Amino acid sequence: MIFFLLSLLANSIVSITLSQVRCPDGFTILNDSKCVKIIENSLLLNNALESCRTYTDGTLVSIHNAIDNRALINLAVAQQTVRPIWIGLTCLTTSCVWLDQSQTDYTNFVSGRYYCLLGSTLIKNSGNPQPDVGINVYMLTSGNSAGKWVSADGSLVSLNYICEVPAIIVPDLCSNPFNDYCYTFNQDVRNEINARIYCQKDCGDLVSIHSEKENRHVLSLFNFTSPPPQVRIGAGTDGIGKYWVDGTVFDYSNFGYFNVDIGKCSTMQIPYGVLDAGQWLSNNCDDELPFVCKRLNGITSCPPSPTPTYNPNMCYGSHFFTGNGTIYSPNYPESYYGQFYPCTFIFTVPSGNIAQVMFTLLNIDDQSKISLYSGIEGTEPIIELTGQFFSPPPFNSSTNVMKMIFDNGERVYNADTKWIANYGYNLSL
Ligand SMILES: *[C@@H]1O[C@H](CO)[C@@H](O)[C@H](O)[C@H]1NC(C)=O
Ligand SMILES: *[C@@H]1O[C@H](CO)[C@@H](O)[C@H](O)[C@H]1NC(C)=O
Ligand SMILES: *[C@@H]1O[C@H](CO)[C@@H](O)[C@H](O)[C@H]1NC(C)=O
Ligand SMILES: *[C@@H]1O[C@H](CO)[C@@H](O)[C@H](O)[C@H]1NC(C)=O
Repeated sequence: MIFFLLSLLANSIVSITLSQVRCPDGFTILNDSKCVKIIENSLLLNNALESCRTYTDGTLVSIHNAIDNRALINLAVAQQTVRPIWIGLTCLTTSCVWLDQSQTDYTNFVSGRYYCLLGSTLIKNSGNPQPDVGINVYMLTSGNSAGKWVSADGSLVSLNYICEVPAIIVPDLCSNPFNDYCYTFNQDVRNEINARIYCQKDCGDLVSIHSEKENRHVLSLFNFTSPPPQVRIGAGTDGIGKYWVDGTVFDYSNFGYFNVDIGKCSTMQIPYGVLDAGQWLSNNCDDELPFVCKRLNGITSCPPSPTPTYNPNMCYGSHFFTGNGTIYSPNYPESYYGQFYPCTFIFTVPSGNIAQVMFTLLNIDDQSKISLYSGIEGTEPIIELTGQFFSPPPFNSSTNVMKMIFDNGERVYNADTKWIANYGYNLSL
């Protein structure tokens, strides 16, 4: 049997960025990716394009789906623009290209015959791109056909127009920094598991506190009128020892009232109340409370939080999972005991990939063990795990199937066992 006792290892990083996007003044965000502005100044197409190019990386807009098309009409309505607007599509034949070189994956040409008087020019159009009418395209912004596109000759017709520019990426900001960490208070209430999942989406976890100074810093987040009486923090207990759910060392404690009968999770007292402000008290993990997250400053990407989460109370038989996800030990966040049979989990990923399991929490006493096997038939474990460790590297099957058997030693009480495992493939990227 192999005994593991590792301290915190950095989590593996994949590309989910926390950056936010915003637009230059006067522009509106479209599809979280670019910024658009309707300009009410009737111009021939080339002049409209020149005008858009006066903005950094500006051009006439491209549109890629009905949602964005609808968003542009709404923008026109909000701006009370009734005149048609040039968009950045050119149709030399019935196939069209966008000026910004993006893929032509969506069009919304008017269907049927369409006549429109623009100034003194009568536009005739029988739907779909009509290169012989004109190679340029405008969008109608009012009437029954609002949102529909029409071919026209941009060297003859002057219209309003929509410019697009790339969105500005704003680097992730560190809220309430203290030493190397960022702290956020979350007002919406969650139980412990869901609060952790929420914090993990932001590359952090429920707050851990390692000094009196840090404790005062967390308390100072509530320096406003009518703070909540208590907020959830990341101290947990298995009934005997205490730990931080983020896996850091439990080197500071400020419990004013610790009683595992109340629960194995914890809160911080905010205003003076049953305890002094800043003291901690035991809490039922299922209570829905506001909470504080903490994450390392400068981390701009982290593993996506895998779904679905699975947390059976019992585990007779085998449980099958495909793709990526997270499972919790039965009865989590309480320890699991009371079953005479080991639990079996089978993880399958698409063939050609290696099935993996990676523990973000593993705390099982020495009478319990987790064994991992390559394939469903495997009888020789790849590894047997027992003890306590945090974020070790992923364990790899030799095939696209991995079997995991969790055995808590046939005890009906007194077990100290809990774990959280990510399963799937490419987990180490
Ligand atoms: C943004 O555009 C992409 C590609 O056209 C589309 O799949 C996605 O749903 C859009 N997102 C939003 C928020 O509209
Ligand atoms: C709380 O805010 C007040 C006024 O803004 C300030 O004087 C005080 O120092 C703050 N206390 C903490 C603990 O930050
Ligand atoms: C599993 O494979 C990944 C890379 O594919 C590697 O980083 C990791 O160390 C392997 N795990 C073990 C326990 O060898
Ligand atoms: C599983 O996660 C890996 C890495 O995050 C990714 O490459 C893969 O596409 C994911 N698979 C699924 C089914 O989401």
